Amino acid sequence: MKESLTTKTDLMKTPEHYRESHNYSVAPGKRTVRLSMPRPVPLLSSMLFLLAMAACSSDSGNPVAPGPGSPPDVEGARLAFERNQKLARGINLGNALEAPNEGDWGVVLQQWFFDKIAEAGFTAVRIPVRWSGHAASGPPYQLDQVFLARVRWAVDNALERNLMVVLNMHHYEEIMQDPRAHEQRFLAIWQQVAEAFKSYPGELIFEPLNEPNNAMTAGIWNQYLAEAIVTVRASNPGRTILAGPANWNNINALPDLRLPEDDRNIIVSVHYYEPFRFTHQGASWVSGSEAWRGTTWLGNSTQRLSVTAALTAAANWALEKDRPLHLGEFGAIIEADMDSRATWTGFVTESAESLGLSWSYWDFCANFAVYDKRRDTWHTPILNALLRPDTDASKLSLAWK
Ligand code: GLC
Repeated sequence: MKESLTTKTDLMKTPEHYRESHNYSVAPGKRTVRLSMPRPVPLLSSMLFLLAMAACSSDSGNPVAPGPGSPPDVEGARLAFERNQKLARGINLGNALEAPNEGDWGVVLQQWFFDKIAEAGFTAVRIPVRWSGHAASGPPYQLDQVFLARVRWAVDNALERNLMVVLNMHHYEEIMQDPRAHEQRFLAIWQQVAEAFKSYPGELIFEPLNEPNNAMTAGIWNQYLAEAIVTVRASNPGRTILAGPANWNNINALPDLRLPEDDRNIIVSVHYYEPFRFTHQGASWVSGSEAWRGTTWLGNSTQRLSVTAALTAAANWALEKDRPLHLGEFGAIIEADMDSRATWTGFVTESAESLGLSWSYWDFCANFAVYDKRRDTWHTPILNALLRPDTDASKLSLAWK
């Protein structure tokens, strides 16, 4: 049976969502280098310094200033860097639990997904979840317990196979339209999710909100993120939290992200889908993308430079802020030709790893599949591009070695 993988009618993106803002922020001379994170590419660094001088970062507020005299969160920093190293190489279980109902977008999670992923050598899964579709609309915003049990099943299956888990909140579309109307609901949902998983091991990581966008501006997001962290910490003081910037977690929006200075148990995440016309050609949920069909990515020097420039800027930001960095989503759609997909995927993965980023490929078996569910086999070129079995791992400067 041919499954429908392109029925995301409630999600419309335009290229502007991923526009290049070139809003890099690298402060020369103030760098602290952690042993667990390799230095960025020096050649590019100087270029990025210049860009930084030219960039003017928007004022998105700093809702959580470091408490005067509060002791540095050494333990939190240790946990975040250590867990980012363990995250290493992950897969997004996309189009399943973040669909309006599991199965609506062609994917129902199966136990064997977790077997395949672990056996192939991946070290983590990111589980996108549409909690907002399974919670009451009025206080106390009670979560559907059957749905919660289903999510727990997925988390358990991953942990049992020694996979790290990033459990997020995905597609809370209403909060993107009207943040104030959903602030309390957002926090109440996290209060319940955090409570439900409070006894889980450190291999489980929470991500408060996927791709804040639209009316959820950087200023509002920075405030809600700080509130979500406080909410989670009430029941999960040692839980590692993963969070990315507003503007769809766009890698170039990092300079606008504000994190609580005195909470170091946080991994920063960014998404990368550039060039958007290549990775999203023919995407049913992106208006105008039909015209992009046939766009290739052969990895010429200009194309490679734009990938490394974006990733290096992000790595520099992370070094400057002394935060571990994760590439939470990247992928090229199955509509693109396989050679281009594999070349792009391999180059992005390798570049991320050489800069010390862990990553999660989007996705397992849906629109950007690394696994072909219909033929019940891996898309070998994509799998090899991600895990590069022919690479001498000992020669890579991986953050997690
Ligand atoms: C975002 C969306 C997801 C989409 C992906 C690629 O994560 O939430 O649904 O498939 O980006 O566009």
